[in-house]
Amino acid sequence: MIQEQKKSAYVNEMFSKIAGKYDLLNNLMTFSNHNKWKNSLIKLALQENPNPELALDICTGTADLAIILNKYSPHTKIQCIDNCNEMLKIAQNKIDSKKYKNIIFNLMDSERLTFDEASFDLVTVGFGIRNLVNKEKCIKDVFNLLKKNGVFACIDLGHPVNHLWQKLYYCYFFKVVPGLGTMFARNKEAYTYLPNSLQTWYKQEEFKELILKSGFNKCYFKNIFGGIIAIHIAVKL
Ligand SMILES: C[S@@+](CC[C@H](N)C(=O)[O-])C[C@H]1O[C@@H](n2cnc3c(N)ncnc32)[C@H](O)[C@@H]1O
Repeated sequence: MIQEQKKSAYVNEMFSKIAGKYDLLNNLMTFSNHNKWKNSLIKLALQENPNPELALDICTGTADLAIILNKYSPHTKIQCIDNCNEMLKIAQNKIDSKKYKNIIFNLMDSERLTFDEASFDLVTVGFGIRNLVNKEKCIKDVFNLLKKNGVFACIDLGHPVNHLWQKLYYCYFFKVVPGLGTMFARNKEAYTYLPNSLQTWYKQEEFKELILKSGFNKCYFKNIFGGIIAIHIAVKL
């Protein structure tokens, strides 16, 4: 069991090691479905706030969410942050190779956000909050960073609802995924951490409650693939 104090450094080192294989493993583990799910997140967010001027993507990783947001809302200025340099390098290369405009990166800790209050129309996060030490603080900070009518859109692992489906999924997630990590990223530890991180992660209803407690007036979630993945959309009215 990783001690709380060491978790941040542990997670940072882990992502540094797997950065070069991160996109490949995401494609393999999800049978290339993760971008479809990320598309759904952005579409739902834009339904709540169709013309965001300024967006923030925290724990941006290789910038998938920013790229999708840019596709649907090319005029939105997107600020992406991550505390892992290696992940940001991959992200920057993706942006440079396709010449995307309006996407910029900063090395920053999602637990120490240094932006002005009420400055963003949209904050997105994909598979990021689960890795933070103080998730509650991060969501409160996100609330403060959003303007009135601002939207918080989060996609992450969920807990499957159906018992049989849960058993099948856990078998895949806990037994097959570490094997894929060993084979393709030469890192069993990172892809053992991933399923383990689900055990202490909020159930969909609990996460919704936490978001509402952080100040948001409206929040709903959508299960994908029987709850393996969950999208939470919240609005600061
Ligand atoms: C699982 S990846 C998700 C990447 C991307 N958002 C996606 O949806 O594919 C988690 C990312 O969060 C970053 N991260 C973890 N803890 C962080 C922190 N405290 N501050 C900023 N980024 C962090 C990692 O470096 C990694 O790039």
